[in-house]
Amino acid sequence: MNDVRQTREGIRIHEPADFAGMHAAGRIAAQILDEVGPLVQPGATTGAIDDFIRNRVVELGTVSATIGYRGYQHASCISVNHVVCHGIPGDKVLSDGDILNIDVTVIADGWYGDSSRMYVAGKASVKSKRLIQVTHDSLMKGIEAVRPGATFGDIGWAIQSYVEANRMSVVRDFCGHGLGRVFHAPPNVLHFGRPGKGPVLEEGMFFTIEPMVNLGRPETKVLADDWTAVTRDKSLSAQFEHSIGVTATGFEIFTLSPAGKFFPDLD
Ligand code: MF3
Ligand code: CO
Ligand code: CO
Repeated sequence: MNDVRQTREGIRIHEPADFAGMHAAGRIAAQILDEVGPLVQPGATTGAIDDFIRNRVVELGTVSATIGYRGYQHASCISVNHVVCHGIPGDKVLSDGDILNIDVTVIADGWYGDSSRMYVAGKASVKSKRLIQVTHDSLMKGIEAVRPGATFGDIGWAIQSYVEANRMSVVRDFCGHGLGRVFHAPPNVLHFGRPGKGPVLEEGMFFTIEPMVNLGRPETKVLADDWTAVTRDKSLSAQFEHSIGVTATGFEIFTLSPAGKFFPDLD
């Protein structure tokens, strides 16, 4: 009667047929992130970028997962410079050299596609470019640790060891998450950890990996708006996020960029 499978940690095990729904949702989130690239320019407001995303989500036949989520009112989170995550789009005008994460989650046919990337308004500084590169590469190292039999600690270690070897820090206060027909589900996907620790990965698990990396210290604080998380030391922060599924031999990325533009043009 109840064919829903989950581990003793409450991690849902999906069926092979469920991958198609996740790919469809993930592709639309990724397509929207591809399309916003040209809008990220000095002089643009984060609110105008969010308006574009809000319209595209609907035009592509999907529903925003963030509008109405715990009272959140926007179709994206846009986190500029020292904002770590959950930046609220609005009147803020982008300046030359600003770096920003745009995070979009759509619901397609009941399946959630959640992804975020970094963008640059104008020309990035050398230290910004280095932060963006290390953050991206840490996500990919985390993803490459994904296969049945590996642990969530292996993923966290892959990310943490790489970031710290580059003398940057991993944010501890926010994590990735299981998803599927829900936005946030077990497990908490930590971006730090130790090899062999944590739940064991199994074929059919769907989750995000979304490391936030700071140039300075890892501590964050949430502003009075109850959403915006910033670095306590005001250092720059970056983040990339993919939604992925565990296959028999490794992983599939649901949020691959159709245009091959996941990593920004840094010139
Ligand atoms: N997309 C974010 C994540 O990666 C969650 C945003 S929730 C919101 O999990 F309400 F702030 F939009
Ligand atoms: Co997420
Ligand atoms: Co997200």
